[in-house]
Amino acid sequence: MPNRSDNPIISAEGLTRIYSLGSGEVAGIQDVDLQISKGELVVLKGNSGSGKSTLLALLGGLDRPTRGTITVNGNNLQEASPSQLNEYRRTTVGMIFQSFNLLPTLTVMENICLPALLAGQHYSGVKERALPWMEWLGLTSRAAHFPSQLSGGEMQRTAIVRALINEPAIILADEPTGNLDSRNGQAVMELLAQLNRRFDRTVIIATHSNLADPFATVRICLKDGRITEAAACRA
Ligand SMILES: Nc1ncnc2c1ncn2[C@@H]1O[C@H](COP(=O)(O)OP(=O)(O)O)[C@@H](O)[C@H]1O
Ligand SMILES: [Mg+2]
Repeated sequence: MPNRSDNPIISAEGLTRIYSLGSGEVAGIQDVDLQISKGELVVLKGNSGSGKSTLLALLGGLDRPTRGTITVNGNNLQEASPSQLNEYRRTTVGMIFQSFNLLPTLTVMENICLPALLAGQHYSGVKERALPWMEWLGLTSRAAHFPSQLSGGEMQRTAIVRALINEPAIILADEPTGNLDSRNGQAVMELLAQLNRRFDRTVIIATHSNLADPFATVRICLKDGRITEAAACRA
């Protein structure tokens, strides 16, 4: 049987991001080596300041490493030009954040469709693609509402559909339940697990919470910007 890590969808070597801070420097992550196979659900753990968001930002092409290599779905992100990174963000990854990051002046439907509209697609086709996901996430009746009219759980579900609209292979979630009560938090984790299992997305969840633990196929722990534990969690 082939080893699942033979052809990783994500691989990094010596990945390091140093922030310049006034006269000093702060390491966000340091010398991170990583291999993630397609179809995993990775739970990324670590205290506040351990480097989780830094790592997700690098994986999402929102930021560049200071040194080291990072390849995601065949894209060498450390070498990518700004326009290649733009294209990468649009096509390969969908990101979900603690604070939802919805645009307040756009409706639920418009927020969801925005990444595809920015990619130059026609609204009518994009809406059609959004509808089954919205149905699945119980957002159909909310299409014309604005974010301020939604509950936290609905806002995060809207952000999840937005992350899916360009059909990315990888979903990156940074503390997705950080602003939700435990019931909505549980529901969001279950949705991410279903995206992984039923819809074959590779999912990476950075979280303080234990809600994602039952769904993890890989657990990675960060401390002070370094990986202290990386273990498969399959029974
Ligand atoms: N933009 C930034 N400028 C300076 N330091 C930063 C910046 N972002 C993160 N850091 C530092 O990098 C380290 C890792 O932060 P972060 O990745 O946000 O951790 P986590 O998401 O696990 O809480 C922390 O010491 C943090 O203060
Ligand atoms: Mg963080």
